[in-house]
Amino acid sequence: MVNHRRTHRSRRPTGRRHAVARRASQPVLLHDGATPRVVFIGMPGAGKTRIGTEVAAKTGYGFIDTDDEIERREHMTVSQIFAEKGEPEFRRIENRVIEELLHSFGGVLSLGGGSPMHPDTRQALIDYVHDGGTIVYLRADPEEAMVRSQHGGNRPLLASNAREKWMSLYEQRDPVYSRIATVVVATRGKTPAKAAKAVMEGMNERIVHVTGSGIEPYDVRIGRNVITHLPEVLGEAPVRVALIHTSTVQRHSDKARTILRRAGYTVSDITIPDAEMGKTIEVANGIWKRLGDEGFTRSDAIVGLGGGACTDLAGFVAATWMRGIRYVNCPTSLLAMVDASTGGKTGINTEQGKNLVGSFYTPAGVLADLDALSTLPNDIFVEGLGEVAKSGFIRDPKILDILEANAERLRDFDCTDVPEDLMAVISELIERTVTVKAYHVSSDLKEKGLREFLNYGHTLAHAIEKLEHFRWRHGQAVAVGMVFAAELSHITGHIDSRLVDYHRSLLSSLGLRTSWNGGTFDEVVALMHRDKKARGNTLRFVILESIGHPIHLDGPDIEDVHEAFRRVSGTL
Ligand SMILES: NC(=O)c1ccc[n+]([C@@H]2O[C@H](COP(=O)([O-])OP(=O)(O)OC[C@H]3O[C@@H](n4cnc5c(N)ncnc54)[C@H](O)[C@@H]3O)[C@@H](O)[C@H]2O)c1
Ligand SMILES: [Zn+2]
Repeated sequence: MVNHRRTHRSRRPTGRRHAVARRASQPVLLHDGATPRVVFIGMPGAGKTRIGTEVAAKTGYGFIDTDDEIERREHMTVSQIFAEKGEPEFRRIENRVIEELLHSFGGVLSLGGGSPMHPDTRQALIDYVHDGGTIVYLRADPEEAMVRSQHGGNRPLLASNAREKWMSLYEQRDPVYSRIATVVVATRGKTPAKAAKAVMEGMNERIVHVTGSGIEPYDVRIGRNVITHLPEVLGEAPVRVALIHTSTVQRHSDKARTILRRAGYTVSDITIPDAEMGKTIEVANGIWKRLGDEGFTRSDAIVGLGGGACTDLAGFVAATWMRGIRYVNCPTSLLAMVDASTGGKTGINTEQGKNLVGSFYTPAGVLADLDALSTLPNDIFVEGLGEVAKSGFIRDPKILDILEANAERLRDFDCTDVPEDLMAVISELIERTVTVKAYHVSSDLKEKGLREFLNYGHTLAHAIEKLEHFRWRHGQAVAVGMVFAAELSHITGHIDSRLVDYHRSLLSSLGLRTSWNGGTFDEVVALMHRDKKARGNTLRFVILESIGHPIHLDGPDIEDVHEAFRRVSGTL
């Protein structure tokens, strides 16, 4: 089971949203179809207005405080409305204003403290989050907030200023705020500027919570600077941390090391050879030796920081040292973020082949820091899009929409210049792809059933990689493999040719390969028979019935397979 503890999707108009009637009195900031970039909730005096305006200024969005908006529309102060019309009527007016703004105002919205307690408003907020909205709960120290709120005027519920009344309000509201918020920021000891920074980091952060039978639940955190969560994920127990990385990501491992040292850990910095060269028993052995020499015990920890090869090796060392020590995975390539870091597989290569020796091992957490992408070469980024597209085809069509809408910018990814809106797109793609992977691996950690659907496109891809002596990047081979699987789905009568064409056009627009002519059908079939999915003499493929609906195809007519192969083995 996978659930989004916090879902942050790009703001997009949805068909479900009803059009909002405009009134002449609305300020110019309102735009039909827009949704707030962020909504603030919290007790009066928590700093919603101060911190909200700070965030608005920093991000360039407009700011509306619903109390101000109500006063403007009603030509009365909130206190007057309470006194003259009563609280229920105030809540009704407030509900109307909030619902309208949730459907029309694309900026920073600060809500009155009591508003989430109204069932209709609460439901509107839950719907807003469901559609990808961000709600920040500013959790202030209740005493401090009380003192501040007394200076603010216009707080009708506190007119009598009874401390007990305040505390009981806090106790009623705090659990409700916490439940509907997607980000909670504790304001104690923070200046408004610091709190605003924490809010902005939280706004950009997405978390996929991975749970399932046989899996210790863990979070995949995606966002800028999420590496700062390292101490929190490691916890207090470990004293020593082995930071395993490649020299290609030195800049990022330096940052991680500083964070760890500042948090009081003793850090062993371990640089391993790059890419597949690092995934060997010799490298693992060298690290085991170091851990032994430096007295690593079961209560110490390992952090793997790098591409999938590095995190596979680091995870393997963590799984085997003293039969398993705490491990935190910090992927730095797109592929490692969306694929290698989730799913619990760790391993090394041997003379017998790639990934044949390894272990299933669950990390304590995954920190996919988008800042790491600032050094990732274009071809490695683009290759990662292959697995992203695969997740779209097998489970989440929205991924395909996002890829299609941003294809050119993704294909031209330049790590030295990634605009904020493109980073938001990439972040959403990572979140969605990790969610798809987590869904398929959570029900069965070991290789069977649902998990096999993740191999869409992989049967031919593995053969291509072998025949190309692993000079082809995996994602490129998977792209060709998906076109092949789509052709096979069509030839066997499951999908129409338009979906096959869509595979070709989408993948090639992303800069991925859609054909291959580096080997014969006989060579490919021989390798396919050795594929993990083949059973006895029967070939087994994952094909599509439609987008989002993969099925198994067992023992297809070899002529159909040959025909599908012919259609992808054009000239390059
Ligand atoms: N465990 C799993 O479930 C799983 C799933 C998929 C793939 N994998 C494994 O992952 C590996 C492939 O992952 P990969 O594509 O990340 O390969 P990789 O680790 O070889 O990284 C590719 C290249 O990019 C470099 N790189 C990575 N991040 C960088 C960054 N931020 N800046 C600059 N350079 C960077 C690496 O140093 C390397 O040279 C394979 O070994 C594969 O077997 C494992
Ligand atoms: Zn793959």
